Amino acid sequence: MGLDRLSSWGCNSDCNWANHWRGNSKSYKDSVSYGWLKLTVESKIAVETTNLSYISPSGKKLLDNLNCKISKGSIVGILGDSKSGKEIFLQTLNKIIPTFTGGIVEGKIIVNGLNVMEHTVNELAREIYTILEEPSLQIVQTIVYDDVAFGPSNMQLPTSEIRRRVDFALESTRLSGYEERNCYTLSGGEQQRLAIAGGIAMLPKIICMINPFSMLDPIGKKEISAVISQLNKNYNITFLITDGGQDIEILARLSDELIFMDNGKIINRGPPKELFSGKYEIDMRFPEIAELFTMLDGNITRAEIPLSVSEAVEFLTKLLRGKRQKISKTSKEPDKISKKVDPIITVRNLEHTYPGPPPVKALRGISLDIYPGELVAIIGQNGGGKSTLALHLVGILKPTNPEAIITVDGIDVPNASTMEIINHINYVFQNPNDQIFTEKVWDEVAFGLKMRGLNQEEIRKRVQETLRLFGLEQYANEHTAFLTPGIKTLLALASVAIMNPRILIIDEPTGGLDYKEADHVLKIIQALNETGKTIILITHDMRIVSKFTSRVIVIHQGQILLDGSPSEVFAREDLLKKAYIEPPEIAQLARELGLPLDILTVEDMYKYLRGVLSWSG
Ligand SMILES: Nc1ncnc2c1ncn2[C@@H]1O[C@H](COP(=O)(O)OP(=O)(O)O)[C@@H](O)[C@H]1O
Ligand SMILES: [Mg+2]
Repeated sequence: MGLDRLSSWGCNSDCNWANHWRGNSKSYKDSVSYGWLKLTVESKIAVETTNLSYISPSGKKLLDNLNCKISKGSIVGILGDSKSGKEIFLQTLNKIIPTFTGGIVEGKIIVNGLNVMEHTVNELAREIYTILEEPSLQIVQTIVYDDVAFGPSNMQLPTSEIRRRVDFALESTRLSGYEERNCYTLSGGEQQRLAIAGGIAMLPKIICMINPFSMLDPIGKKEISAVISQLNKNYNITFLITDGGQDIEILARLSDELIFMDNGKIINRGPPKELFSGKYEIDMRFPEIAELFTMLDGNITRAEIPLSVSEAVEFLTKLLRGKRQKISKTSKEPDKISKKVDPIITVRNLEHTYPGPPPVKALRGISLDIYPGELVAIIGQNGGGKSTLALHLVGILKPTNPEAIITVDGIDVPNASTMEIINHINYVFQNPNDQIFTEKVWDEVAFGLKMRGLNQEEIRKRVQETLRLFGLEQYANEHTAFLTPGIKTLLALASVAIMNPRILIIDEPTGGLDYKEADHVLKIIQALNETGKTIILITHDMRIVSKFTSRVIVIHQGQILLDGSPSEVFAREDLLKKAYIEPPEIAQLARELGLPLDILTVEDMYKYLRGVLSWSG
C-alpha cells in the first residue's frame, strides 16, 4: 500500500504545470529516448484505484476510499455536484494532484499497468491526459496552430505526423481557419475547443475531460461528442468525462457507463439506461427524456428508459396513435412585452472589428430594442459575437463605425463616462475570474459602493443585505480565490447587483456550475427581474431559455438571425442550425410528434401527455 506524501512538492511560483504535462521537460524527452514505451504493461484495465483517498493541504478528506476499475476502451461519465470530488479523482490519476496542489494521496492507483506513485507527471502524460474546464490555464503558446502542435512536438513526432494531428484536432473542434489567431483573443467557447484540440492532438491512451461541454454551443456539444466516439472507436482511447448535470443528455448517450459520486465517494455506477431507469435514488438531474418517462411511469408501461429523442418518438408515436385530436393545444400564450413603452436599450447598426492581426469582424450591423423589465436571452454559436455585443452595451468596447447608435436608459453610451454608465447598466463577466479582484468576499461586494464614496455605515448595511439576498453571508470573510465556481458566479453577480443598475447583462452565468448551483443562480436572476430589473442573459443552455426567459435573440456571425419568444424561435430549426443551435430535447420531441410547438419543457410535455393519456377521464 503506497502512501504518497508529496506535499513538500508544492507549486513554486514559476512552475507552469500546463507546460509540464503537455510534455515539455527534459526528463520527459529522456524517458522517450530511454525506450519509454517499454514501461507500459499490457492490461485490459485502463485505471484501477484501491482505497484511494486524498486529503487536502487544509486537512479536508476530499476523496474517501475509492475502489474503482475502468476497462480499456470504455467511455465513462463521472457525475456529481461540485463537492463530489469528481475532478479531484481525475486529477489524482495523472498525479497533477498532489504534485501541484500539495496534500496527501493515500492508496494505490494503476494507470495502464503503471503504478502512478512511481512515475512523474511528465511520464504519465503520454498515458493519460486531462483537459481542464478553465481553458486559459492550458494555453501554452500564443498562436492557435502552435498551441495545438505543442504536445505532439514535445513527443518528437515527425513533422508530417504533427501536421496531420493538428489539422485533425482543429477540424474536429471547428477551429479550422483559426490557425493564425491569437489564443488569448478567442471567445470563451473557442478557448474550450482549443483546449480539447490540444488534448486530442496528443492521442494519449486515456483522456480525462472536466465538464468539456460547458461552454460549447448546442451543436458543438454534439460535434465534440461525435469526435469522442470516433477516437474511442478508431484508437481505442479510454475517456473519463465529468459533468455536474448540465450536460447530462449528451453524457448519458455517449457513455458506456456512468459513475455517480458524492462527497468523495462512489455512490452508484452502471450503464446509463440502468442508472436513470427510475429504480435508483440518485441526487442528479435526469436527462430530459428520461425525466419525462419516469414522470409518466404511472400512466405507461415501458421495458427500458428512453434516453434519446428518437427512442422517445418511437415509443410515443405508438402510444399517441388516434388520441391526439382529442386534445386541444396546450397553448400558453408567450408573454408579449407591450411595445407601447419606449425601449430602455436601443442599438442601431453596430459594427465592431477587432484590429488583430488578423482583423476579426465580430459585429456586422446589429440593431435591436430591449424594453424595460424584459428578461431576454441571447444565444448563438461560439464566437458569434455575444460577449462583444454585451461589452458595447456597457461601454467597455466602442463601435468601430462612427454612425452606430447605442442608447441605454437615455445615455449615449459610446460618449459617456464609465461612472455614468454603471449607474444604469452593468455587466457580469463570462468568467468570474476576469472580474473578481479583491481578496475577501466582503471587500469585493463593497468595492463599487466605496468607489461611489458612500459612508461606511451605509456600505455595511447594503453589503450585508446583498450577501443575504445572494445566500453568501457565510462566505463574507473567505478568500475569493478559494471559492467554488458556483459561489464565485454568485459573488460576481452580487458585486454588480449591489450597485443597483436598472439593467444587468449576465454572460453565461451557468458555465462550470453543477445543475443545483445553476438553478440557484437562475432563481436569483429571476428574482432580480421580478424586482423590475431588465436582464440580458447570454447562455448556451436551451433549457434555461425555455424555462426562464420570454424573449430570445439569436446572434450569428455578428448579426441578429432571429428574435422572438422561445417557442417562435425554437420552431425555426432550419435557421437555428446555421447558428449551431438546437432546440431543447422536449421541443425537438414535440416537433417530431407533430404536437403544439409551445411545448418546450418536461413539465409542458408531461401535462400534455397526461391529458392525452387520461382519455377515459
Ligand atoms: N480581443 C479580441 N481580438 C480579436 N478577436 C477577438 C477578440 N475578442 C473576441 N474576438 C473574436 O470575435 C468573435 C466574437 O467573439 P465573442 O463576442 O467573444 O463571441 P461569443 O459569441 O462566443 O461571446 C470571435 O471570433 C472571437 O474570436
Ligand atoms: Mg462569450
